[in-house]
This record gives sequence, structure tokens and C-alpha cells, in this order.
Amino acid sequence: MKTSEIRQKFLDFFASKGHQVVASSSLVPGNDPTLLFTNAGMNQFKDVFLGFDKRPYKRATTSQKCVRAGGKHNDLENVGYTARHHTFFEMLGNFSFGDYFKRDAIHFAWEFLTSPAWLGLPKDKLMVTVYASDDEAFDIWAAEIGVPVERIVRIGDNKGAPYASDNFWQMGDTGPCGPCTEIFYDHGDHIWGGPPGSPEEDGDRFIEIWNCVFMQFNRDESGTMNPLPKPSVDTGMGLERISAVMQHVHANYEIDLFASLLRAAARETGVEFGMDIPSLKVIADHIRACSFLIADGVMPSNDGRGYVLRRIIRRAIRHGYKLGQKGLFFYRLVADLVAEMGDAFPELRARQTLIEDTLRQEEQRFAETLEHGMALLDEALAGGKTRLDGATLFKLYDTFGFPVDLTADICREREVEADVDGFEREMNAQRERARAASSFKMTGNVEYSGEDTVFHGYERTSIDAKVLALYKGSEPVQSLARGDEGIVVLDHSVFYAEGGGQAGDIGEISASAGIDALFDVVDTQKIQAAVFGHKGRLAQGALKVGDSVAATIDLHRRQASARNHSATHLLHAALRHVLGNHVAQKGSLVNAERTRFDFAHDEAVTAGQLAEIERMVNHVVAANYDVSATLMPYDDAIRSGAMALFGEKYGDEVRVLRMGDFSTELCGGTHVRRTGDIGLFKIVAESGVAAGVRRIEAVTGEGAIARIQAQDALLRQAAELLKAQQGDEVLARIQGLQDTVKSLDKELARLKGQLASHAGDSLAESAVEVSGIRVLAAEIDGADAGALRETLDKLKDKLQPCAVVLASRAGGKVSLVAGVSADATSRIKAGELVNSVAQQVGGKGGGRADMAQAGGTQPENLTQALAGVAAWVAARL
Ligand code: ALA
Repeated sequence: MKTSEIRQKFLDFFASKGHQVVASSSLVPGNDPTLLFTNAGMNQFKDVFLGFDKRPYKRATTSQKCVRAGGKHNDLENVGYTARHHTFFEMLGNFSFGDYFKRDAIHFAWEFLTSPAWLGLPKDKLMVTVYASDDEAFDIWAAEIGVPVERIVRIGDNKGAPYASDNFWQMGDTGPCGPCTEIFYDHGDHIWGGPPGSPEEDGDRFIEIWNCVFMQFNRDESGTMNPLPKPSVDTGMGLERISAVMQHVHANYEIDLFASLLRAAARETGVEFGMDIPSLKVIADHIRACSFLIADGVMPSNDGRGYVLRRIIRRAIRHGYKLGQKGLFFYRLVADLVAEMGDAFPELRARQTLIEDTLRQEEQRFAETLEHGMALLDEALAGGKTRLDGATLFKLYDTFGFPVDLTADICREREVEADVDGFEREMNAQRERARAASSFKMTGNVEYSGEDTVFHGYERTSIDAKVLALYKGSEPVQSLARGDEGIVVLDHSVFYAEGGGQAGDIGEISASAGIDALFDVVDTQKIQAAVFGHKGRLAQGALKVGDSVAATIDLHRRQASARNHSATHLLHAALRHVLGNHVAQKGSLVNAERTRFDFAHDEAVTAGQLAEIERMVNHVVAANYDVSATLMPYDDAIRSGAMALFGEKYGDEVRVLRMGDFSTELCGGTHVRRTGDIGLFKIVAESGVAAGVRRIEAVTGEGAIARIQAQDALLRQAAELLKAQQGDEVLARIQGLQDTVKSLDKELARLKGQLASHAGDSLAESAVEVSGIRVLAAEIDGADAGALRETLDKLKDKLQPCAVVLASRAGGKVSLVAGVSADATSRIKAGELVNSVAQQVGGKGGGRADMAQAGGTQPENLTQALAGVAAWVAARL
């Protein structure tokens, strides 16, 4: 039975049992930053299990795309070397949301596996396990299904803590979980291994094929098991594993689906196909993970999900290299994958070009360093060394782009130990250097040691403070004089220092006593994590360290920035609603003028989508939701559904910004009090900034009004010019003008033709005869290249045998054409003729023997050059 048939049968079976067939969700989990990639069928239903979300159905079935690489469940290192590990796989699952529970779940699984109408597996090949204390499940298996008790194994907490068991499943450290029952298939006694729970259980003979989880609890971070509102069911069966069973093969790589991918890998690496070549399996596995990830919007990068993708790609390339393929090859496997899986997953076919382009670029990039890196590695390991030091691991990573797990992979093949701890130390040292360098850079190498600045800018706009330090330029000084440019550090401040995409505040610092000092702040930047540098110029008076001052932000600009920043959050949420949950923030810039938001999405946002996004944001603005900021522990924030940036480092305590129920994000920026304060939101541009990254720019409040007024004024001016009433009539007028232009163009072409033939008639008369050939050289005022050619053709017909040169001039340039009638080309070549003239007007040209063109840049010599044509011809004949 083919893999595709098994997938379909599974869905059909559960549909026949009242389950809704639901599409696989994206590999990038929607709104769940606790998860790197979708790693189980239940991910998309997490909130339904927890009772936070409701669906119109209580039973569902899916074939879910999963990736287990780089995160909590990480199988990357094992891929290629075992019979069953994959980075990408499909999980078949059936789910009950507070509907059926243990009894039906077990009966369904058994029926599907053993009934001749479905998979028809022999019952005596199957074994089951239950959680040690789950008598209910035990009894169902024994009494109702009839599995002999010696083939039902109770598994307790065999992983060293309460509920840490092979038969207790949880998605992560927190979240929905519960005891499970697992079904095993016996591949036969010719394979080493023992039943679950036995000392030989890690062998390959008894393979778990189906896990049925009885979701009962929500585990919180204290470890407490809170009962779920309704007991539920979550099951998972690896499609590749069950296919291996059904196709009577032992390894997943031997199933039909992999056959063509493995052969394609052999073809592209130029090796003879063989099942015993791990590198081919690695490549066949990795092309699936990489292509599906790119199809779901992940792009190779140096952090977060993108870095996991980059690591998988580079691992595949390295294995190709190992097989002797030093050129680009990986991207060529995409077509084979699309042929194999494109029907079940249309997104592969739809994004094939993007996937191929992305992989090819990554291959090109890595190809430049792979060979040199391998040479360095060989050198480091020369002389039979058994350990690779951390410094070399780091150099390979930093200079040659070798992910550390890739180097570790090579070490393992060569039975060399890789000093990963040493690598981590080098890595931390580099982070430290980078951090130090960047905190300097921000304020132009300012050195500071002293108190922190206490920030009051969320609640106030002005504050009394003391000057802690002063810099003229970046040199520490005790006082600033009028006109000096520099930096002021205060003990308390209301100025927001640039961060999280929001620009620093501007405003003024004034001395509150003594001489009237006034320091204009043009920017605020962090000198250190909690020390703010107010940059600017002392406009009047003098300022000394220790002075008491009043610091006041430019409230108008701050409010404008706040409007733009709050609108950015709404935009982010609206983008996810309209385009999908793959939209992840890639960067943002917010200031008083506008917001600029970059996000992952691999095609242009259509005008219709932009309009919908704009409408949605303005709807939330009009709803005038309360905007609240709450400090809370990071984990609580994530649990409350806050969007966090993947790969971003957050402190233990974070600030959660909520706007009604529409948007919840971690953010340290300054915001409006209610969404209504934004006033109006207007998108002004949409563009692409890199492969898979789009940019939206927008304005709010007064900026939006100004924008709309400017557009209105433009329309009005256009209407005036067109003598139209505003609105539809403008379009009608433009259409009318375009029609007129079109018909005038036609008319013009016709007239030019006429003109040319008239000009031809009168010019013909000025031809001179040279040894039996009529020679004509003339300038035609205002003729373009087309008109020159047309006239030339007419003259050639009329004058033959002849040699004709025509010219015109415009804008400091000369256009030339030359023609020789067919009966004269044996004696004179048009190309030579035109060049003889062109040379004299600073140009060059060429063409056929009967027709040639040229240009020149010295119109002042044209008349003379034309006058010499007859003599030139005479000299040739
Ligand atoms: N969620 C369960 C698993 O992944 C079914 O094994």
C-alpha cells in the first residue's frame, strides 16, 4: 500500500467516525513562541484542549507536517544513521475535544490497524503499553479488545520524576498533557530488540507506531497538574513508520516515498545508489525539511528558526561534498520532491521557484567557505588527534559558517571528540566583545561609570533631575559652555532612549536655578543598558556636573511617536489576521513621522489585502480600546498569549502591552492611552526588502491627515487641469485623453509617412550621378530614425542604382542611415558608406551591405560631412 493511500485511508476512516478532516497547519506555529516548529499534530489544537478556543467540531483528524530539529524534540543529529529518525515527517492524528475518551480512542485505533477493511495488520504482531496506574486503559485492551495480558505492558515513571514516563506525554515543560497508551509493531525475531519495558527495548524489533494520549491536565510551570475542563484525546502515528510496516520493510527510508528522493540524491551527487550510504538518506531527508520550511515562510538566517533551516541546508550540502559533489546540487532535488509530494501539499508546487532560488543562494554562499573550512579542519585533526578544540570549532563557525552541530557531525564520523563547551566559551567571549563594542558605538565611544538613569517617561513628560555627567563631543567634561555639542547624563529622565525600533525622544533640559541654561536634546540613546545619554547642543547659559535641571520632552513629537508605535502593534496583528500566522516581525522603525514594519511574507501584499489591513486597524482605532502595560514574569506573559520576537533576549520580567483583545505584545516602548488616540491609520507604501521579507510604511494621526490632504489637493489640481469635477470624472477625462493621444499618434504616423514620401520626391531631384550610380546625401529636419529609414527605402526604389545617405540632428546628436540599392552593393557597401560620414561627426555605426545606421555627437560637422559623400563614392568606383 502506497504512502499516499495510507494517508488517505487514515483520514477517510476517521471521517467515517464523525471526525472533521482538518488541513495541516503551518510548520511555523501560530502565535506560540514557546515552540520552534510545529512538532505534533496537536499543536494547532493546543488552545482548544485548554478550553481557550472553540471549534465548530468536537472530533478532528489531520495529517500534520512536523519538524523535529533544533528545538526541544531535536532529531537532527540522528538523521541518516538510524532507521527511523527524520527532521521532517508527517503525523497522522485523531483528536477529541471533550467528546470521546479512552474507550473509543482505543477501539478506533485497533479497528483501523487490524480490520481487513482498513490496514488489516495481523493482531499477533501488535503489543501495547499503558501508563502504570491506568487500570481503565489496561482493562479496555484486555477485556474489550482481547489483547492477551502478557502483551500489555505497564510503564511507570521510568524517566526519573513523577509523570516523567514513556507513557505520559506532554508537549513541552508546560501545557496540555496526560497518560498515554502506545501500540508497537513487532518487525520479527530476525531483528535484535526486546518488547517495551525490557532491557532490550532500545533495539529495532518492537517499534512504536501509534501514541494515543489521554489529555487530562494542564501542567503549569510549578509542576502542578491542573485538570483540563474536559478530558480529551490526542493521537499521533508517524506516516513514514506505518508505511514501512505496510510495505514490509524495516527502515523508513525503504518506503515508496523515499525511493525517488534517494535516487535523485544519488543522481545529483554522482554516486551509485545504495541503501547503505547514510549521506544519501541525510540529503533525502533534508530536502523535505528545507523545502517545507521555506514553503511555510522560513528563510535562512543567523538566528532563530532561520538558523535551524540554515543548519539543515548546510548539513545536506556537507554530505553532498562528502560524496564528492563539490558543485551546486541540493536545489535540483526540489523538482523531485514536488513530483512526489506536491499533490498532497500544494504549497510546495506553488512556491517551487522560491524554494529553489533560496536553496541555490544558500549553496552558493556556503560553497565559498566549505572547502577552506574542510582544509582547516583536516589540518587541525592531522596526526591522529582525538579531540577538536573549542577555538577551532569557533573559527569554523565564525569564519567559515560551519554550524557547530555540523562540525560535531564530522567529528563523530571520524571518532573525534568535539569540545563543544570550549566552543560555548569562545562564543560567549565574542558576544561580550560585541556587546561592549555596540554600547560604545551608540554614543560615539562614551565611557561612563556611575549611577543608572531612572526612567519615568511612561507616566510623565517632565521631571527634575541632577546632571551626573557631561561630554563635549565624546570627551568627559565638568561643564558645557554655550554652543557646545555633547551629551548630558541625568539621574532621572523622561526621555525615551532609542530601542525596540522606537526612535529616541527630543526635547530640552533647562537649569532650574541660577543662570538660564538651555540644552536642546536632539536624540536620546543608551550609553549603557540603563544609562541614558541626551545628545544635543547647549543653546544658552552654562551647564555643570551636579546642576539641578528640569528635563522636558517635546510632547508633540512624543505623542506622534506613540501613535505610530501603537499603530505598529495593530498593524502586526492585522497582518496576521489577513495574511496568516506566518507573518513574523523582521524589523521595525518608529519615529514621529511614520512607522516602518518589515515582516516575513513571500509575495507582494495585494491592494485588496492592504485595504483590508487598513480597514481592520482603523476599526480597532475607532473601537477605542484601553491600552494597558503590565509588568510580569516572561513565562506568564507568553502564557497570556503575548507575541514575542523569536530569538530576542528578554529579561525575566517583561512589559506586556495589550490593546483590547486585538493585540498583546512584549514591548518597552511608549504608547497611546487608548487606541482612539491614534486617530487615523494610513498605509503609504508596500515593498520588498529581501527575499521573503516585505515592508509596510504607514502614518497616523496628524501625519495621516496631512497625507490625505496632500492626496486630495493632488486630485483637485489634476481635476482643475483636466477641467473635471473631482472623482469619477477625472478618470473619464484621463481615459478620453488617452484615446485622443492614441488617435493622434496614428494620425502622426500617417502624416510622417506622407511627409517622408514628399521629402523623398523633392530630395530625389538633388541626386548627382557618379559613374552610373546616383548619389544622394541630405539632411531631413525633424525626422526620427524611423522616418529616415522610411524615406531611405523610398529613395532607394526611385533612384536605383544608387547610394544614399540621410541624416537628422536633435539634442546635440546626429542620426544617420545609408542605403545602397541591390544592384550596386557589389561596388559600394552601405556599412562603409555610413561609417565614412559617421567618423566625421564623432560617431560609428554599421549594418548590412544595403542598409546601415550610425550615430554621432558633432552635429556642427554634419553639413560638411554630407557634402563629401559624392567624392567618397567617386573615389571608390
Ligand atoms: N502528541 C502525541 C505525540 O506527539 C500524540 O506523540
